[in-house]
Amino acid sequence: MKDVNANTEAKRLAGEAAAALVESGMLVGLGTGSTAAFAIAALGRRAQNEGLQIDCVATSFVSRTLGLEHGLRVLFLDQVSRIDISIDGADEIDSDRNLIKGGGAAHTLEKLVHSMSDRFVVVADLSKRVERLGEKFAVPVEVLPPALAFVRAALKEQGAESVELRAAVRKDGPVVTDNGNLVLDAKFGPFDAPALEDAIKRLPGVVESGIFARTRARPGDCILGNPGHASGFERF
Ligand code: A5P
Repeated sequence: MKDVNANTEAKRLAGEAAAALVESGMLVGLGTGSTAAFAIAALGRRAQNEGLQIDCVATSFVSRTLGLEHGLRVLFLDQVSRIDISIDGADEIDSDRNLIKGGGAAHTLEKLVHSMSDRFVVVADLSKRVERLGEKFAVPVEVLPPALAFVRAALKEQGAESVELRAAVRKDGPVVTDNGNLVLDAKFGPFDAPALEDAIKRLPGVVESGIFARTRARPGDCILGNPGHASGFERF
């Protein structure tokens, strides 16, 4: 499970550096999570203090709410077909900028929004860099409720060492996504990210996995907050 309170300063530096890339007239995709939240707050400040004129779309209920709280104009996703720039966090990032996302169970809309974006910028702290995906995190898989048993068994057949139904916090029972579905967290040993993304996507009943390796949703830039660095961040 991710720790939303870890490395707060590095997350802030990354989020604010990404928000500085946004220009008036842009349509901006708002990511989900504790790092993306710093970018959303910074965009709100820029709109208020600099007169930055932007429209936004959100990757989750919580990022929509946060955007509105910060005074941003947030459109519904079905009103747009392309986005200028989107900014989001990640749970793991490898050296090819492949990602694991979905620690907040928002990966389905995140993949859609980032695929629609001309530019997708990932913001994170250094702890998110890994040699290979799956080192620390399980792969989140959003599943239609009736497909739960089938997909759990199929993920094990595909080599998952464990497959856990994600449990809610402060509610008895499972996490229910913004789309009304369930999340299985599948822990794999070393894997080929594009191949596993494809294989999971092909299972009937799977809505989306948190591997971002094959689609347009692979980021063009990663901004890693680093308080020890002169500029406050590293890019790759
Ligand atoms: C949401 O489902 C996730 O993809 C988040 O973007 C990811 O978990 C990163 O979140 P933090 O910035 O809180 O670590």
